Amino acid sequence: MQQSLLRVVAQLKRAQRILIITGAGLSADSGLPTYRGLGGLYNGHTAEGLPIEAALSGGMLQSDPALCWKYLAQLAGACLQARPNAAHMAIARLQKLKPECWVLTQNIDGYHRAAGSPAERLIEIHGQLTPLFCLDCAAEDGDLPAHLTAPMPPRCRHCQGLLRPPVVLFGEMLGEDSVARLQGEMAKGFELVICVGTSASFPYIVEPLIRTKQRGGFTVEINPERSAISAQVDIRIGTKALDAIPALVSHL
Ligand code: APR
Repeated sequence: MQQSLLRVVAQLKRAQRILIITGAGLSADSGLPTYRGLGGLYNGHTAEGLPIEAALSGGMLQSDPALCWKYLAQLAGACLQARPNAAHMAIARLQKLKPECWVLTQNIDGYHRAAGSPAERLIEIHGQLTPLFCLDCAAEDGDLPAHLTAPMPPRCRHCQGLLRPPVVLFGEMLGEDSVARLQGEMAKGFELVICVGTSASFPYIVEPLIRTKQRGGFTVEINPERSAISAQVDIRIGTKALDAIPALVSHL
């Protein structure tokens, strides 16, 4: 095992308060597209000539729900057709070994929960794809797959109101509960933060790493490409998540 991985294993053995921050790169090993970087969804424009961030925005869901749902359905379809990979499983195993190990994910695919990460120590800061809920009567609808093969946009079975997923669309606020949980755990501090598969494009993703570093904690990045935090971390492992995380956890 290479030197840098052995150093991270030593940190994982020693630390109790651990935060694993994950992004689209973790699910890239399940075959899902990332948003930025090579092959990223955001690199191109939609068939309508829009940046994908515009198509997947709260404003578009209001103004043209069929168009927004066209791209939501693409994302959801990809997530439903793939599944968690060995890195998700290894993170769930790490959380069983370390009762104070938390996951902060930007991913809406639900793969951490499916892999066995405990919901009480998982913060899905951009929400999740199901259950859909009605904007008019608030009724929940757990049958996302059925709606993906029906005419867009999905309608409420009770009142025909517009359905949407509990995700944070572009231009929308983060969920208050997620932010409160993150702030609560940040206040307790972390000894070790490992960022996996993220371009670190958002301040609420960079902040836990910077604050941990300022408090003398140890910081790691696992990403084949450099990101906004590469210059900040103590150890950078330039590999895929799948090539590093199962190996790290298997040595605990
Ligand atoms: N293993 C690890 N990292 C990988 C892999 C892999 N197999 N493949 C790609 N990466 C890295 C890329 O180098 C990139 O730095 O994953 C990162 C993915 O970055 P983004 O596509 O920007 O995804 P993310 O950081 O999760 O984006 C954050 O942006 O638009 C929002 O809601 C969207 O949750 C998303 C958020």
